[in-house]
Amino acid sequence: MTIDAYTALYGVFGNPVRHSKGPLIHNACFQHYHKNAVYLAFETDNIKSAVDAMKTVDIKGASITIPHKSSILDHIDSVDQGAQAIGAVNTIVNNNGRLMGYNTDWKAAILPLTPLGIKGKKVCIIGAGGAAQAVTYGIKNEKGSFTILNRTSETGQLLASKFGGQFVSLQDDEAIAGLDIDILINTTPVGMYPKTDATPFPLKYLRSDMIVMDIIYNPLQTTLLTQAKNMGCKTINGLSMFLYQAAAQFKLWTDINPDITIMKEALTNEH
Ligand code: ATR
Repeated sequence: MTIDAYTALYGVFGNPVRHSKGPLIHNACFQHYHKNAVYLAFETDNIKSAVDAMKTVDIKGASITIPHKSSILDHIDSVDQGAQAIGAVNTIVNNNGRLMGYNTDWKAAILPLTPLGIKGKKVCIIGAGGAAQAVTYGIKNEKGSFTILNRTSETGQLLASKFGGQFVSLQDDEAIAGLDIDILINTTPVGMYPKTDATPFPLKYLRSDMIVMDIIYNPLQTTLLTQAKNMGCKTINGLSMFLYQAAAQFKLWTDINPDITIMKEALTNEH
């Protein structure tokens, strides 16, 4: 593809962003669908200036990542229902100078679970941060019931009461033992590279009839997933949520539902 005077600009705003796989997968899709567009990584602490720049130089769309997903709500022109409820925006569309905020994480989280059924299921969500908010909103939206399991009671309780679920402390071994879990979802960074031996959930309480999902994708097979698989659990790794949230962003920007395998191949062929 030739970059010329008509090339549209997209990007990710965050800090750090140099590890981001966003440029790899979005540029692969732009090329595949013959879009005259590029996607770059912008490492910035100043989200207000970044947002102003989007209007000034007509950046068509952006991904928003750590640490700006919440603070960006104060700087954009409109926010869709899901992003408002979650309190976080991960996607911006520049609609002729009006910046519209969306959250594609929650749909991406539930997509791999939907064929397995969420309605009426007892879902245990580990963590109470930004990712947990999106996952909880998604589960609630699909009429699953949920328990928040978190290290810090204040944040855990807050999230549980916000969406109408129960809270259990990660320190309360007895309460964890008594949990009836159909679907277990880790949203914490526990088990992520380089501390890959760590697990966010006491492995002795895994049962073979649980579906176990981890949103970590580095490594793809966390210790939690490996142990769950060994027990016979159905497991879902973090790649699907990562790819589906990116695919939903691409759709918002281009109106094209991209083939996920293009993104997967871009990741595999890296180097
Ligand atoms: P994100 O936006 O990616 O969800 P976050 O908002 O920083 O990141 O939230 C991280 C979550 O992982 C929090 O729920 C955090 O627990 P606390 O509320 O107790 O801080 C959880 N977390 C992070 N490190 C953890 C650890 N070592 N053990 C248990 N929970 C941890």
